[in-house]
Amino acid sequence: MATADTPSQSRLKESIRTDVCIIGAGIAGLTIAYLLGREGRSLVVVDDGLIGGGMSGRTTAHLSNAYDDRYVEIERVHGAEAARLTAESHTAAIHKISEIAREETIECDFEWLDGFLFAATVEQLELLHEELAAAHRAGLTAVERVARAPIESFDTGPALRFPRQAQFHPLRYLDGLARAVMRGGGRIFGQTHASKIEGGHSVRIETKHGPVITSEIVVVATNTPVNDRVAIHTKQAPYVTYAIGAQVPKGSVTHALFWDTGDPYHYVRLQSEMENSHDILIVGGEDHKTGQADDGVERYRRLEQWARERFPQMLRVEYRWSGQVMEPADGLAFIGRNPLDDDNVFIVTGDSGMGMTYGTIAGMLLTDLIQGRRSRWEELYSPSRIRMKALPESASENINVAKQYTGYVTSGDLESESELKAGNGGIIRNGLSKIAVYRDDSGGVHKRSAVCPHLGCLVTWNSSEQTWDCPCHGSRFSAEGQVYQGPANTDLSLSD
Ligand SMILES: Cc1cc2nc3c(=O)[nH]c(=O)nc-3n(C[C@H](O)[C@H](O)[C@H](O)COP(=O)(O)OP(=O)(O)OC[C@H]3O[C@@H](n4cnc5c(N)ncnc54)[C@H](O)[C@@H]3O)c2cc1C
Ligand code: FES
Repeated sequence: MATADTPSQSRLKESIRTDVCIIGAGIAGLTIAYLLGREGRSLVVVDDGLIGGGMSGRTTAHLSNAYDDRYVEIERVHGAEAARLTAESHTAAIHKISEIAREETIECDFEWLDGFLFAATVEQLELLHEELAAAHRAGLTAVERVARAPIESFDTGPALRFPRQAQFHPLRYLDGLARAVMRGGGRIFGQTHASKIEGGHSVRIETKHGPVITSEIVVVATNTPVNDRVAIHTKQAPYVTYAIGAQVPKGSVTHALFWDTGDPYHYVRLQSEMENSHDILIVGGEDHKTGQADDGVERYRRLEQWARERFPQMLRVEYRWSGQVMEPADGLAFIGRNPLDDDNVFIVTGDSGMGMTYGTIAGMLLTDLIQGRRSRWEELYSPSRIRMKALPESASENINVAKQYTGYVTSGDLESESELKAGNGGIIRNGLSKIAVYRDDSGGVHKRSAVCPHLGCLVTWNSSEQTWDCPCHGSRFSAEGQVYQGPANTDLSLSD
């Protein structure tokens, strides 16, 4: 965000009709718009913020086919053919990004490089061994074991080298993609919140400030679908992940992608700016379930310590930020028709830490489906799939959600709002209800109901992002209560 301009698009001012309406201008929405536009479809993209203003502007932009839930697991849960298609689709996505950047001359620092996966602990060396064999079976036969990842200052021990990975500057890419969409005749509107989405013979999309969009098809690319109340949200779990960007002397870290096998895992890469005397080392990790921890300061500290132990040349930390990823219970994203909905309503979600490639896969897959073509990846990523197995940790996710409802019978964080310092939020009990109270920097107090409008869990305060986060399915709201991330699609209600 600090090194790219994000142009704002004007708001939709009057009701319109189009072939395809895409909600969300992140990598998924814009890639779908770009590829559909090339097929001659008339289309409109609406976003209630800026282009890339959601999670796509917060990504660390590793473009990878080194699957973060591991090929061993995908093979175990979905079978060998599914693992092969997973590898094929992510590989195709990296190539598609490279091709789009080249054809549209998007200056986004796209760079091919190697990726290295190393064991977080000695016990996990066996996992590397198994993952190497599974990656080969999935068709990634060029993946190889090396004695160590190329980090001079830190002996990673044996690592897997994944060739032909890539990185880019995500916001510069999205800016170029948006321009290409508009050159092709697509229209993009910002500050336009889709408040109601109804499929049917034709789709009707109401916007918060009035105008209505009518279309043949709608694609809800809001990272987590705001039009789906239950079906998808019991099959994925929201996690907050943290990242830092620190100066390192130019040339002191190899240009490559790095991950360890921890749970949560660390992810590392380098960003170089020609005009700067240093590079920026980007390090991420320290994930936790959304709304279930408010210790961001400590997590940034641990991330920095982990990085300094491995990259002692690291200088000042310039950037700190966090964002949310959606973890699918069975390890694969959901891309296709929205379950239990009309046939002309499509979604893309569940992209875990692989949303750059998944957003691009969504562009290719949904373009095929919308244009009436078959796709080899259709069944694999079908949001309606029912598979009997799931990843080991997923069984506990729904129990965890059920536990969040016990918040109704506990006391609040605060006895009264007078305990609140400026720039802080807290929950106060008021009889049977709970109130989310925020005191702004000038002392003004903002009160909203703490009940999440999605399915009624109680939100908690996130002091590092200054948001209210829902611990159940990951809805997030600004300090003043405006909805910022779904599945909720309305603000926290005003409290009396
Ligand atoms: C710190 C971090 C690091 C990551 N690192 C990587 C990585 O290295 N590699 C990788 O592949 N992935 C990574 N990811 C994941 C990746 O960034 C996301 O999965 C991806 O950006 C999701 O893209 P999207 O288009 O689905 O969603 P978004 O970019 O969130 O776009 C959704 C858009 O929908 C809009 N919207 C929502 N509701 C409405 C509404 N009702 N009306 C109108 N507009 C609406 C939002 O404003 C937003 O702009 C990372 C994520 C984080 C947070
Ligand atoms: S996100 Fe589902 S209840 Fe809040």
